[in-house]
Parts: sequence; C-alpha cells; structure tokens
Amino acid sequence: MKINQIIRRKALLAGAIATALALPFAAFAQSPMVVKFSHVVAENTPKGQAALKFKELAEKKLPGKVNVQVFPSSQLFGDAKELEAVLLGDVQFIAPSLSKFDRYTKKIQVFDLPFLFDDIEAVDRFQAGKDGQALLTSMTNRGLRGLAYWHNGMKQMSTGKDKLARPEDVSGLKFRIQASDVLEAQFRALNANPQKMAFSEVYQALQTGVVDGQENTWSNIYSQKFFEVQKTIAETNHGVIDYMVVTNAKWWDGLPADVKKGLSEAMAEATTYGNKLADDINADARKKIVDAGKAKIQKLSKDDVAAWRKAMAPVWKKFEGEIGADLIGAAQKANK
Ligand code: LMR
Repeated sequence: MKINQIIRRKALLAGAIATALALPFAAFAQSPMVVKFSHVVAENTPKGQAALKFKELAEKKLPGKVNVQVFPSSQLFGDAKELEAVLLGDVQFIAPSLSKFDRYTKKIQVFDLPFLFDDIEAVDRFQAGKDGQALLTSMTNRGLRGLAYWHNGMKQMSTGKDKLARPEDVSGLKFRIQASDVLEAQFRALNANPQKMAFSEVYQALQTGVVDGQENTWSNIYSQKFFEVQKTIAETNHGVIDYMVVTNAKWWDGLPADVKKGLSEAMAEATTYGNKLADDINADARKKIVDAGKAKIQKLSKDDVAAWRKAMAPVWKKFEGEIGADLIGAAQKANK
C-alpha cells in the first residue's frame, strides 16, 4: 500500500470514529435539560401544588427543552441536605421555609419573630415591598439566588396534652422546631425545651414522645397526620411558615436566555397560582382536622393571645441587632 493510500485510509477511519462519537452527543444536546425540584412537604399542600404548577408551566413554555422533575416529601433531599445539594448542583430548585436560611443571612430571621405579622396578607405586602425583594438577592454572595416567595400560612401550636391555652401550659414541654435560632429562643422564652429536627422526622417524634409538641400550619399538621398524634391544637397564629424558592446563582446566570426567560415566567405564574391557593388549602386542612375529631382545637381569647405575646416578646430584643431595627420596622408597617 502506498503511503498516501495509508494516510487516506487513516483519515477515513478517523472521520468514521469522530462521527460515531459525535452522534450520542448530538442526540444528548437535543434531549431536554433535566431540572430537579426537591421539597419536603406532601403534594396536597400549597408548596406541593405550586411546585407541580411550575413543572406544568415550564414544560409548556419550553417544549422539548426542559424536563422538570418534582420530588416531594423529602424523597430526594431532606432539610439537612437540600441547601448544600443546590450549591453542589445536585438539584436546581428547592423552596425551604424562611426559617431555614439563617446560616446564609441573618436578616431573613425577621420572618420568625413571634407575632410580627397579623396575617398572611401582611406577610405578602412585606415580601412584595422593597425590603422583602432585597432579601431575595441577599444570599447571592453565598451562591444562592432567591426567585420567589411562596406562601403557606400562619403557625398553630400543638401538644400531646389536654390543656393548651396559656403560655404556662407549655412550660417544661419538649417542642420540635425548625432549624432556626429565633424559634429556639421563642420556646426558651416560654420555659419549654426546643429541639431542632428535620421535618420528615416530626411525626415519629410526636408519636413516640421524643417531643411533646410542635408548631406548624394547618396544611402541614393535616398532611403529615400530626393531628393524629397530638391531643390539642391551639389556634395561636403566632408566626408564619412561608418559603423562598432558591436556585444556584451560577447555574441560573449561565442558562441560555430563552430557557431562563421560560423558567422565570413559569415561576412567576406558579407563584401567583400557589399563593392564591394557600389560604384555601389551609382552611380545608383545618376543617378536615375538625371533622376527624381526633385532636381538640383550642380557640384563644384576646386575653390568652395577649399572654402569649407578652411571654414571647423578649425574642424581638434578642435578635434586633442581627436583623436590624429598620427591617423589623418595615415588616411591622406591612400590618394594616
Ligand atoms: C417544617 O419544617 O416544619 C416546615 O418548614 C416544612 C415545610 O416546608 O413546610
């Protein structure tokens, strides 16, 4: 074989190999980008519903370009791992409760101050204002980009005891709390013993008596069946559980423009959808708990509420330095 024939053959072979190798990559480039959304609650909750809506809208706006996979109920990542997972790129969207960010920004602790917001409408006004919006980008230097606030609702307190009307009724009891120093201080102010614990572990902890009580929204108390293992739920409305949808800032900034636009629009529309549903889902969950007749619902008098407020008031002073008096003032102004 002449030397130029050998060269031509080699070139042909190299071309064939290159084509064979390139094929799967070409096929890969055309397949949709997999985008994972992980959260810790059930699907029949405000967050569960909003996440499913986001998937539906994103896939409709970006046909063939994205495949959004939603993992509810801590199936993919639980409380302890989800923030790290976003930073590592193992999941693209999560929506932790606002109580779970205090390692990333102290200012966000404002949402946990007891009796700060009168209702979810006040929370909404604060989030939509200048200060609330600024918090969405306050963790960019830590690699997290906030995209939206999603509502759940006001927190109620529950225990395995018959009496739960006044602060003294929780003295000495063990409470599961989310990973938040403000919530820890809140229960200490009530002379109770708070224990930080992942959401997925709460039912069992209540059932086995590892803790006596917890605080959560009606939708979480219902969907996690806490009402089956608690005797009394007091309608305290003493705080809020709301969420920030966050993503990896670097990943988000690097998205192709059309994908970012489609995902942003889907997020905005899913936010409106979920936030409108939240009140109804909580009211429905409350009704189902009443109908089940397992836990007693304790209504509070004005005097009872005043006593809870007074007992928890020291928490504000304790965190004023970290949060900032201005931010607390702005949040207070959101009450009508
Ligand atoms: C909790 O841990 O109690 C809640 O933050 C769970 C949730 O995401 O609503």
